[in-house]
Amino acid sequence: MTLDEAFDKFKIKYKKAMVTGGAGFIGSHICEALVTRGFEVISIDDYSAGKDMNLEHLKQYPNFEAIKCDVTDLENLEKAFKGVDVVFHEAASKKNICLKDPRRDLQVNGGGAFNMAELCVKHKVKKLVHASTGSVYGEAVKFPQDENHPLNPVSYYGVSKLAGEKYVGAFHHLYDLNTTVLRYFHVYGPRQEFSEYGGVVSIYVRNLINSEPPTIFGTGEQERSFTHVNDVVLANIVVAASDETNGEIYNCASGLKVTINELAESVLEYFKSDLKPVHEDWLVGDIKKFQIDNSKIKALGVEFTTDFNQGLTQTIDELKEYIANAQKS
Ligand SMILES: NC(=O)c1ccc[n+]([C@@H]2O[C@H](COP(=O)([O-])OP(=O)(O)OC[C@H]3O[C@@H](n4cnc5c(N)ncnc54)[C@H](O)[C@@H]3O)[C@@H](O)[C@H]2O)c1
Repeated sequence: MTLDEAFDKFKIKYKKAMVTGGAGFIGSHICEALVTRGFEVISIDDYSAGKDMNLEHLKQYPNFEAIKCDVTDLENLEKAFKGVDVVFHEAASKKNICLKDPRRDLQVNGGGAFNMAELCVKHKVKKLVHASTGSVYGEAVKFPQDENHPLNPVSYYGVSKLAGEKYVGAFHHLYDLNTTVLRYFHVYGPRQEFSEYGGVVSIYVRNLINSEPPTIFGTGEQERSFTHVNDVVLANIVVAASDETNGEIYNCASGLKVTINELAESVLEYFKSDLKPVHEDWLVGDIKKFQIDNSKIKALGVEFTTDFNQGLTQTIDELKEYIANAQKS
């Protein structure tokens, strides 16, 4: 299904969307898809990691509003709910931040999801799509990993995100809230955070722009199921538009397997660089092997059509300019 076909169904149900984490990487792409098609959109972000520049191109649209608000601040969050009929909850404290302040991360990833679900019930929101993560599975004990794989997260991040999706599930069961959980894996694309808190693709691009070698933790043979952000946006719109997704959880991953060594090689090749990757110790909680079963979400018509090499090239093309602009400001 194309994004336009998914929106044909979506527009029958919804007029006004809230996107939390709207100034972040994935949230800003969801905002863009909605705003440019004429939906009313409210972005909620505390800008702890999000950037104003991610939403700059949407400010010209009268149907778009960006509000600075913390999802743990229930009182202020509630003020933004008027008329909202669909919510995409992307706001989260990410992996590396969690290592530094796991209590705060539990408040944001667990408590924030609780607040969102509670307010969705109170304001009769028709649909809550909740962004979760493959990190809730922990190290795989059987392959391929479908949605019924045991949940044994090995990082603070994975535990707090699991708390978030479980709260969303509880509100679904207790109050019939229409929810869908998407477990993302290794999303990449333009506007991804490139600091030490960012994704490996954008970090490597920043390294190469600054003539630094990419760092590989461990052997580099760890696999990633890189998934382009456009395909993640499609997944969000499809599950929101579909009737059969109520109360369901879906793996949202391309199914690709790319090692970190292969990624480093591709990025070095793009930059025609002679630099050699630097190897460091494994990161705590890093998952080494993924083999994701994405058949459940594909059955809804979500196709992961972005070719990795093309997606990577286009991402690096855009990230080069993005990082240069961000480093200037
Ligand atoms: N990028 C990935 O590969 C990936 C993989 C798995 C899951 N996810 C999930 O997808 C979602 C979006 O991730 P992303 O990659 O776009 O990250 P991101 O850091 O770019 O975006 C998250 C946004 O949430 C905002 N935020 C953080 N704490 C907040 C708070 N207390 N109140 C309001 N806003 C807050 C940040 O400022 C940021 O703009 C997250 O829920 C994340 O856990 C992402």
